[in-house]
Amino acid sequence: MTKTLITGANKGLGFETARRLVAAGHTVYVGSRDPERGRRAAEQLGSLWVQLDVTDDASVAAAAKAIEADGGLDVLINNAGIEGRTPDGGVIGAADVTADEMRSTFETNVFGVVRVTHAFLPLLQKSDAPVVVNLSSGLASLARVTDAGTPTHAYPGVAYPASKTAVNMITVQYAKAFPGMRINAVEPGYTATDLNAHTGIQTVEEGAEIIVRMAQLGPDGPTGTYVAAEGPLPW
Ligand SMILES: NC(=O)c1ccc[n+]([C@@H]2O[C@H](COP(=O)([O-])OP(=O)(O)OC[C@H]3O[C@@H](n4cnc5c(N)ncnc54)[C@H](OP(=O)(O)O)[C@@H]3O)[C@@H](O)[C@H]2O)c1
Repeated sequence: MTKTLITGANKGLGFETARRLVAAGHTVYVGSRDPERGRRAAEQLGSLWVQLDVTDDASVAAAAKAIEADGGLDVLINNAGIEGRTPDGGVIGAADVTADEMRSTFETNVFGVVRVTHAFLPLLQKSDAPVVVNLSSGLASLARVTDAGTPTHAYPGVAYPASKTAVNMITVQYAKAFPGMRINAVEPGYTATDLNAHTGIQTVEEGAEIIVRMAQLGPDGPTGTYVAAEGPLPW
């Protein structure tokens, strides 16, 4: 049975991805920083759960140890992510972004991905078909952000898109370093979740589509790509 860990899977896209992969026959570990939210999600999903705060070395190390003791890992989905907002829910643009705001966004979205991937690499390397899926965003694309007249160009935030551009670079460099693994970055599309106060235009079922597809790649599948449901995206 394929063993899959999804970080930040107690709600949103991670929860829906877990639901679909449980249905596809994976043994799924729902990663949740909050034990109560994790336990509740796992009960609803019929999955396992593990306490995992991607910003906390000790939490990530303990999760890796527990999953190793349970038999190892085949698929890692780096899904946990945040988008810092102003107190009234606005996007933090260039005039207001601070180093602290950048640091806290990167701590989860970028350093969290590296912290978790680094901890689980030894387990993934023992798998016959290791797969890593990194949650990027359409806002990570420098080509799109600089394409005047598009919604991506109009988005004024700094920390969140910069963090996801970093996720794309991390994806490419890991994919080159570990050619035996399928390691890809995905853009789920603008999806109604707590992340954007449910302003997204897609359902979580639609958003999870590409995550689920890339989580199920076989050893001959693509690696080092940046994709949405409709196909590859420009970097
Ligand atoms: N929604 C979109 O339109 C969209 C578009 C492109 C990319 N994405 C990406 O998709 C991923 C999932 O987002 P979502 O829309 O499903 O958001 P969401 O509903 O807000 O879910 C985010 C998940 O991440 C968890 N999380 C946050 N910080 C964490 C930490 N330090 N350690 C562990 N878990 C943590 C949250 O846990 P708590 O419940 O404990 O807060 C929650 O489970 C993110 O990486 C996001 O950037 C989303």
